[in-house]
Amino acid sequence: MIAEYLLEIFYLIASVTYVLGLKMLSGPKTARNGNLIAAGGMTIAIFATIFLYKDADGNKLGNYIWIFSGMTVGTIVGWLAAKKVQMTAMPQMVSLFNGMGGACAALIGLIEFPHYIHATGETLTLAIIFGGLVIGTVSFSGSMVAFAKLNGNMKKDIRMPFYNIINTAIMLVIAGLAAFLLIYNIENATMWVYILFAIAFVYGILFVIPIGGADMPVVISLLNSFTGLAAAFAGFLYGNMAMLTGGILVGSAGTILTLVMCNAMNRSLVSVIFGAFGSTAGGAVVDTGDKSYKDISVSDTAVLMNYSEKVVVVPGYGLAVAQAQHAIHELEELLESRGVTVKYAIHPVAGRMPGHMNVLLAESNVEYNKLVEMDDINPEFSSTDVVLVVGANDVVNPAANTDPNSPIFGMPILNVEDSKTVIVNKRSMNVGYAGIDNDLFYKEKTSMLFGDAKAVLTELISELKGM
Ligand code: TAP
Repeated sequence: MIAEYLLEIFYLIASVTYVLGLKMLSGPKTARNGNLIAAGGMTIAIFATIFLYKDADGNKLGNYIWIFSGMTVGTIVGWLAAKKVQMTAMPQMVSLFNGMGGACAALIGLIEFPHYIHATGETLTLAIIFGGLVIGTVSFSGSMVAFAKLNGNMKKDIRMPFYNIINTAIMLVIAGLAAFLLIYNIENATMWVYILFAIAFVYGILFVIPIGGADMPVVISLLNSFTGLAAAFAGFLYGNMAMLTGGILVGSAGTILTLVMCNAMNRSLVSVIFGAFGSTAGGAVVDTGDKSYKDISVSDTAVLMNYSEKVVVVPGYGLAVAQAQHAIHELEELLESRGVTVKYAIHPVAGRMPGHMNVLLAESNVEYNKLVEMDDINPEFSSTDVVLVVGANDVVNPAANTDPNSPIFGMPILNVEDSKTVIVNKRSMNVGYAGIDNDLFYKEKTSMLFGDAKAVLTELISELKGM
C-alpha cells in the first residue's frame, strides 16, 4: 500500500517538474536548468515505476536484466548522439528521437491489445489502444521520412497524382477498420490489428513525402504533437499520471509551436498539409538572367561599418553552417568598442529549427538583449546605417511582400531594405531553403560580400583591427 502511495507521489513530483521545466524553457537564461529539471523528473518517474509498480495481482515488474540492458543501450546511444550532433543537424535528431517516441507508443498498442480484445466492456480501453497505436505509428514512419529529408538522404519531395485524395482515403480506411474492430468481436482480430499498424505506417510515409521546403519544420512540430498525444493515450491506458501529463504537455506544446510557426510563415496548417510547398531543394543554382548585382570587398565593408552609428546583423542558416557564431560576436564587440551600436535581427524561422539563431548566438555569449525579434526590429531598419546579412536568404526576400506568385508570398520578413545600406554575405548567388531567387541581391543599395561566413568575418575583424 505504501509503495502505491509513494509511486503516486513520485508521479506527481515528475509531473510538476515537467510543467516547471517547460516554463523555464521559455527563456534562454533558464532553459538549460529547465531541461535538467524535467529530465530529473523523468528519471524519478522511470525508477519509481521500475521498483514500486505492482499489477492488479500485486506482482512487481521483474525482468530487471532486460529493463536495465535496454536502458543502458538507450542511454549510451542517446548520450553519444546528443554529444556529437552539430547544431545544423539538430532538426534531424529531433525528428529521429520523436520517431522513437512514436514507435514506443505503437509498440505499447501492439503488445497491450491482445489483453483486451476479447474482454467484455473494454471498448473504451480498446479505442485508447487503437488511438495510441495509429497516432504513434504515423508519427514514427512520418518522422523517419522527415529525418531522411532533413539529413539529405531523400532529396526530392514526392507527389503522386491525387496524393491528397489517396491520403484522405487511407485515413478513412484506418478510421473504418479501427471502428470495425471495436464494434465486432472477430476471431482473427490480431491479424487485423497488425494490418491496421501497416496501413498507419504507410500513411505516415505518404503524409510526409510530398511536404517540403519551408514547411518541414511545421511538419516536425506536428509529428511531435502526435507523439505526445500517443504517449498520453498510453498514460491513460496504464492509469499512469506522469506519462499522461508528459504526453499532454508534449502534445499541446507541439500543437502550439506548429500554429506559431504557421503564423510566422503566414501559412495555414491545412495548406502546409495539403499544399505541398515548392519542391526546389535549397542550394540550387539560380539563373540570374540579365539582372545585375554588385559585390563589395572586405576592406570596403570594414570602412563602412567602422564609420556607422548603427549596424544590424541578420543571422541565417549559413551562419550556423559556417559555425561563425564566435566570429560574429567578436565583430560585434569590436564595433561596439568603437561606439557603433550593434543589434541582431531575429526572424522566427531563420535557420532550420525554432529558436535556431537564439541558441547559436547564446553559444557564443551574445547578450540576450541584443537579439531583437522581427516585429521589434523592423521599425528600426529605417534608422540603421548598415545591415549585414550573414548566411540568410529567404527571411530577407522582398518577394514575400511584393510577389503574389512567390511561394513565400505573405510570409513576414525582415524589411532590411529600409536601411541605408545592405551587405549580404553568402558564398554564391544560389538560392536558400525555399529554392527561390531573391530580388534583394539586385537592389541598388545592396552589395554582395561573397565567401564562407567564418572566413569573411575573420578577415573583416582583422581588417577592422588594423584601422
Ligand atoms: P536560407 O534561406 O536557407 O539561406 C541560407 C543561405 O546561407 C543560403 O542562401 C546560402 O547561400 C548561405 N550559406 C550557406 N552556407 C554558407 C556559408 N558557409 N557561409 C555563408 N553563407 C552560407 O536561410 P534563412 O534565411 O535562415 O531562412 C531559413 C529558411 O529555412 C526559411 O525558408 C525557413 O522557412 C526554412 N526553415 C526554417 C526552419 C526554422 S523553424 N527555423 C526549419 C526548416 C526550414 P550560398 O549557398 O550562396 O552560400
